[in-house]
Amino acid sequence: APKEIARCPLAELRSGEGVRVPSEAGPVAVFLVDGEVLAVQDTCTHEDASLADGFLEGHVIECPLHGGQFDLRSGAAVCLPAQHPLRRFGTRSDSEFVYVTA
Ligand code: FES
Repeated sequence: APKEIARCPLAELRSGEGVRVPSEAGPVAVFLVDGEVLAVQDTCTHEDASLADGFLEGHVIECPLHGGQFDLRSGAAVCLPAQHPLRRFGTRSDSEFVYVTA
């Protein structure tokens, strides 16, 4: 079974904004997109920027530092200068928390 590596209170999740949560796999960015919770590594694969501080457009997150873009559903880099995919994480939720799993 997937292992729980982080949790985030459901109340902190708002549409259009990322939440950064620490985990044993490094910081994770959690997003609410169309009612679906998506989790990826928080640190951009280009340089050292936090994607939880980025700009969300649909299911694409734009890095706040140089504007690289990633598809949160696949982790794929979809706009330069981002070239390498993000690690994705699983999620599950109960009435209080979102759990990030790996
Ligand atoms: Fe994210 Fe450069 S650090 S695009």
